Amino acid sequence: MGIDVRPARPDELDAVVEVLRGAGLGASVGRLLRFPLDCPSGEVLAALLGDEIVGGAAVAGFGATGWIGALGVAARARRRGAGLALTEGCIELLRTGGAETVLLYATAAGLPVYRRAGFAVEGEAHAWRDLSPPRGRPQADGVRPLLERDMAVVRALDRAATGEDRGAVFSAMVRPPGLIVERAGRVAGSAVRSPWGLGPSVVATDREAGIALLSVLRRVPGAPLTVSLPDANADAVRALRAWGFAPINQATRMRLGPAPAYEPARVFGMFNLFWG
Ligand SMILES: CC(C)(COP(=O)(O)OP(=O)(O)OC[C@H]1O[C@@H](n2cnc3c(N)ncnc32)[C@H](O)[C@@H]1OP(=O)(O)O)[C@@H](O)C(=O)NCCC(=O)NCCS
Repeated sequence: MGIDVRPARPDELDAVVEVLRGAGLGASVGRLLRFPLDCPSGEVLAALLGDEIVGGAAVAGFGATGWIGALGVAARARRRGAGLALTEGCIELLRTGGAETVLLYATAAGLPVYRRAGFAVEGEAHAWRDLSPPRGRPQADGVRPLLERDMAVVRALDRAATGEDRGAVFSAMVRPPGLIVERAGRVAGSAVRSPWGLGPSVVATDREAGIALLSVLRRVPGAPLTVSLPDANADAVRALRAWGFAPINQATRMRLGPAPAYEPARVFGMFNLFWG
């Protein structure tokens, strides 16, 4: 019996989520799939062995770039090519939608599968959790709440940091909670929380602006701050360590196709380890 990969039907989504949870992709993976399901350039794929769903994956397309995320195969069906078939199905969908470059964050288990599909390693990223209550005052100079009128500049900051046009993500968010940092009348950074991901997306033009945003975010009442960011942002990593954050997860950014003008030193937080 061979592996068949195709878009999941609406009545199959619960089974896909169950398989992905069982594969170790976390309790909130169902929430993560909302964006690819709602966004016109997104899709959720199912891998079938006979008529049984044994794997799943999701894609989100942003024009010239596209992301693969939440790819997993049930333990009982591994090492039969389902992981590679899902990866290839995702690449084909994204390429058909116009993506020249396909990006993803890989676990250690996923890395060899993606290498086989042609992906190259770009760099490491970690998710961090705030384990010690913040003391003293935040470094909050110029930080204020995000307003609806800021969204155009937030998109421009995101484009300058990621080298991608992730307008689809921002268009799908209605009045997202967030922060802006302004320096000398210019917006120097933004922090936006999405309804799907774990952490906030934080981008800034310089170290001080990014660290000011993180410093305020960790004082927002509620659960301890979790934030994912590229190791290449050494200033941010140093600040997190000094504040008592601990790494809770690691992933490797991989790329297939030409490099976007990605500036990891401008990234102080990612929505998730799915589409950055
Ligand atoms: C990563 C993951 C998706 C791989 O799924 P998979 O279906 O086992 O992937 P494949 O079968 O395509 O490839 C896995 C291995 O099986 C081998 N294989 C493929 N077909 C085979 C076959 N018919 N017989 C024997 N081995 C086979 C591959 O060569 C590969 O071997 P290698 O890793 O030693 O090089 C799966 O392990 C998983 O869900 N892990 C947990 C979640 C996770 O980490 N997901 C990745 C998120 S980025």
